[in-house]
Amino acid sequence: MTQGSSTILVIGASGFLGRQVVKTLLAQGHTVRCLARDPARVQDLAAAGCEVVTGDMLNAVSIQRALQGVRAVYISVHTLSPQGANLAGQAFMDVEKTGLENIVAACALHGVSRLIYVTSIGTAPDAPSQWLRGRWKTEQFLLNSGLDVTIIRPGMIVGRGGTGFDAVLAGANRPVAFGLGSGQQKMRTVAVDDLAHSLVGVLNDPRAFGQAYDVGSDDVLTMDQMIDGAAAGLGRRPPIKIHFPAALLRLFAPLIERAGKLPRGAFQGLVDSLAADMSGDPLPIRALVTRPFQSYKQAVGRVLAEAKAPR
Ligand SMILES: NC(=O)c1ccc[n+]([C@@H]2O[C@H](COP(=O)([O-])OP(=O)(O)OC[C@H]3O[C@@H](n4cnc5c(N)ncnc54)[C@H](OP(=O)(O)O)[C@@H]3O)[C@@H](O)[C@H]2O)c1
Repeated sequence: MTQGSSTILVIGASGFLGRQVVKTLLAQGHTVRCLARDPARVQDLAAAGCEVVTGDMLNAVSIQRALQGVRAVYISVHTLSPQGANLAGQAFMDVEKTGLENIVAACALHGVSRLIYVTSIGTAPDAPSQWLRGRWKTEQFLLNSGLDVTIIRPGMIVGRGGTGFDAVLAGANRPVAFGLGSGQQKMRTVAVDDLAHSLVGVLNDPRAFGQAYDVGSDDVLTMDQMIDGAAAGLGRRPPIKIHFPAALLRLFAPLIERAGKLPRGAFQGLVDSLAADMSGDPLPIRALVTRPFQSYKQAVGRVLAEAKAPR
């Protein structure tokens, strides 16, 4: 830990979850530095009092600059996102691994020891998708790095701006909802503010060092159940569901990855991850974070109420 520093760095601050983590840290009185590839995307966080540094976790020099004088680092990134043009054709988990190697090297350079890394429920060496298997490896890489690492594995995050939940809401708002895979895969849900609270809750807790935690509410639901639950919250009838089978999506995956400038295998990894339920064990983290987790219904109600509230 950098002596005397109180600054917390958030990598992925422009993202759906990273942004919420920043706001929670600020609300609890922390000094926050945001790393963003495009600072224009975090102007609101700068206005809220964050220091903003421009950087990319794939650029070692920018990461070394960002870690100077910080005492802890949150990593909330999604390498399914488009990456720099020079990485076209690279496998998406190689992209994430390179980024983490840069971060660990910068931690060693600046004496930063506390790292909190967000992955997802379901990571395992024998998981059905390359994404979940790859993330199990990156988790192990960090856990064996000698740093004080905590891995946080959320379920489906319920909040406005999350890719998964926005798709649920969009489906709930239409007479016909389209979904990936069978629609029968079950996922534990977690309200975005409960998740951010958990992430900030473990920051200074040595019991969390060297640990990985699944995080979520008691609700484990299929996508179809989530869509119907959101439709009920909106006062709408449950939509008709049309599912695109995984086999069909796999056929088009290379095309979708090229068109979306996604790293190689990114979309396929997502499709394969639909094959197994993602429920995990949410109990161990509850010994550390005592605030109750909102049910899916409560979390949806909150999202809808916020959408109606005047800005
Ligand atoms: N959303 C969910 O329901 C859900 C569920 C389970 C787990 N998770 C996990 O939660 C984490 C955050 O997800 P999210 O939904 O917040 O994703 P998101 O909204 O897509 O945000 C991803 C963030 O990663 C940043 N990023 C991507 N590549 C980067 C790079 N090379 N260098 C620096 N930053 C980079 C993006 O920056 P730009 O703004 O520059 O693109 C963005 O800030 C991920 O690990 C994800 O797997 C999410």
